[in-house]
Amino acid sequence: MNIAKTLKPKDQLKPKPADENNLGFGRIFTDHMLLMDYQTGKGWHNPRVEPYGPFTLDPAAMIFHYGQEVFEGLKAYRGEGGHVYMFRPAANIERMNRSCDRLCIPALPNEVVLEAMYELIRVEQDWIPRAEGTSLYVRPTIIATEACLGVKTSATYLFYIITGPVGAYYAEGFNPVRIWVEEKYVRAAIGGTGEAKTSGNYASSLKAATEAHEKGFTQVLWLNACDRQSIEEVGTMNIFFKIAGEVITSPLDGSILPGVTRDSVLALCRHWGMNVSERQLTIDDIIAAAKAGTLEEAFGTGTAAVISPVGSIHFKGQDYQVADGQTGALSLKLYDEITGIQLGKKPDPFGWVV
Ligand code: COI
Repeated sequence: MNIAKTLKPKDQLKPKPADENNLGFGRIFTDHMLLMDYQTGKGWHNPRVEPYGPFTLDPAAMIFHYGQEVFEGLKAYRGEGGHVYMFRPAANIERMNRSCDRLCIPALPNEVVLEAMYELIRVEQDWIPRAEGTSLYVRPTIIATEACLGVKTSATYLFYIITGPVGAYYAEGFNPVRIWVEEKYVRAAIGGTGEAKTSGNYASSLKAATEAHEKGFTQVLWLNACDRQSIEEVGTMNIFFKIAGEVITSPLDGSILPGVTRDSVLALCRHWGMNVSERQLTIDDIIAAAKAGTLEEAFGTGTAAVISPVGSIHFKGQDYQVADGQTGALSLKLYDEITGIQLGKKPDPFGWVV
């Protein structure tokens, strides 16, 4: 594939962050981005690397009105021996194409996206931070660009990838977070777009997150839209519980995002011979386990934070502590194992790292 490159002159490159231990998340962007166009009849074409910057869209572009969009999130690491590693990038691209299918966006050839992404990361490799817990976040995105106010699928799209150095996703870092069980708002319903990574899911989550923040909680625990009982996700992450030795996460029933970290955690726990289940838990099950002292751990999983331990769960006016409010042993072990594999420092039994 021919990827045209318009690179910034070296003396115009942005300064790299001076303090890699204070990168935050998603506010610093590199010098270049990757772009590719789609037009009905012509397909995906013209992959190119260009200087990072604003692009011009018609105010009637359909993304602004009807939200036809998908995105992904993955990371590049500066790991063992100074080499650049990526973690299961093909899994993200495959998921992006499944999201595309749900949003009626034309699929991209997996190989083309991977090659284009590697090319951008090669160009930006000096931006990959080295400090512990840091990486280069990679954000592939597709937006509908046709100028039309009719509700229909767009005839034109823009695919782009932007990247930026990141540290911890939550201000708490790896410290346990306080969770609010959300009873008023729902994130998604079966048959909706919950299993697609699309902007609308995140936009509709903001109200609950804002109200939870105002009450002093970091994230919300989402319950099933129909029964208002079954556990779905936590904030923007999948959720795991360890109850009486059993590691449990919600099944992929159509309303839950099929997380790459979720899948990796399941594979590792099974590999370690643990008792692992993908089965429905209700909030009553969690509260009963907390009361009985069998709720050993709870943690969120996602690309951004990797593992986010839950310290307490607030339900109907009461706080229930998880693992004495400390980071549990399994959360710690999974974090060490996954980040070790990502950096090429630990054996990679599943061939996840490229
Ligand atoms: C992740 O956990 O990687 C996410 O989905 C968060 C992202 C939207 C920043």
